[in-house]
Amino acid sequence: MVRPLKIGSLVIDPPILLAPMAGFTNYAFRQVVRRYGGVGLLATEMFSARGFLEIDSRYDRPPERLWGVLDEPRPLATQIWDNNPALMAEVGRQLAHEFHVSIVDINFGCPVTDVAEKAHSGSYLLRYPDRIAQIVAAVANACSPTPVTAKIRLGACHDTINACDVAQAVEGAGGAALTVHGRTAADMLRGSADWEEISRIKPYLHRIPLIGNGDISTPQTVVEAFQRYDIDGVMIGRAALNRPWLFRQAQAALCGEPIPPDPSLAEQREMLIEHFRLLTEQFGQQQGTVLMRKFACCYANGRPGARAFRAKVSKVASAQEFYSIVEDYFPRKESVTESPASVFIV
Ligand SMILES: Cc1cc2nc3c(=O)[nH]c(=O)nc-3n(C[C@H](O)[C@H](O)[C@H](O)COP(=O)(O)O)c2cc1C
Repeated sequence: MVRPLKIGSLVIDPPILLAPMAGFTNYAFRQVVRRYGGVGLLATEMFSARGFLEIDSRYDRPPERLWGVLDEPRPLATQIWDNNPALMAEVGRQLAHEFHVSIVDINFGCPVTDVAEKAHSGSYLLRYPDRIAQIVAAVANACSPTPVTAKIRLGACHDTINACDVAQAVEGAGGAALTVHGRTAADMLRGSADWEEISRIKPYLHRIPLIGNGDISTPQTVVEAFQRYDIDGVMIGRAALNRPWLFRQAQAALCGEPIPPDPSLAEQREMLIEHFRLLTEQFGQQQGTVLMRKFACCYANGRPGARAFRAKVSKVASAQEFYSIVEDYFPRKESVTESPASVFIV
């Protein structure tokens, strides 16, 4: 029913993508997602192209956010932001030809103050499709034959929804795919994503695929997105933080196959411990432990007993403490006991 996605010469199969999420889609989380499978393309978190050239290069080190990228399996997209075409082109060139990433994605959707208002980048540029075209053209030229894609929102605010113009600018400038988060920049993450508006963009694109994004949270919503809207792919963000196995379930649903069950608590326990190991490999014990707090809280989301688990894990200060909390809440053997784990068994 659903065809693989073609981005330049890359085939993305299944057409289900992991969204870039700053502070979350680092190397460790990407490996967790990869292990469960069902994801067609993963993305790094966005990083500042200017920071990369002016700070990281001075110290002759890749930015923290490129940690692991050189050795990681492909396909893998990296995402950059700035508003200067020449500077973006130089960073794109390095990503494509030195880091050998599969795709260079440009962020035209970030609404946070530091990026949009202070640096006049990200979603600030949605008001200026010509500037977007200049940036895409410069980066695409520098990265060729590596595809360059763009991620946008519907517009700056509800009075200025102009995603169709921006889509034409991206395609006309040589972009290889367009991802649209179905909110405006002013919405931040409030309200719900407008998939009708995303669909409206499709007739404006003649050569490149359209990827829809926003509020996809279950295998069923993935299937519905393809059935109801004119899109070529879907991108999933927050729901993957709670359920990194969602992709393989969505893939099965798209193929009309039985949806694999959630991993058992024992399997989730192994996954949490492996995630922790990967984080500490990159960030060291102390920072890795602090970072693991937010991931562990996400995994507990929506489950009975999550509040008690979160209260403990959000203060965890050492590896030993983390293992012991996980041991309590994610037992090796699933049996209903008086232990705190029983509250997770439904
Ligand atoms: C914590 C967080 C960080 C994000 N960081 C990025 C980012 O680095 N680049 C980007 O294009 N979008 C970023 N986004 C937006 C997501 O990629 C996605 O567009 C948005 O969360 C809507 O999709 P969802 O409903 O599936 O989460 C971020 C979102 C969240 C919640």
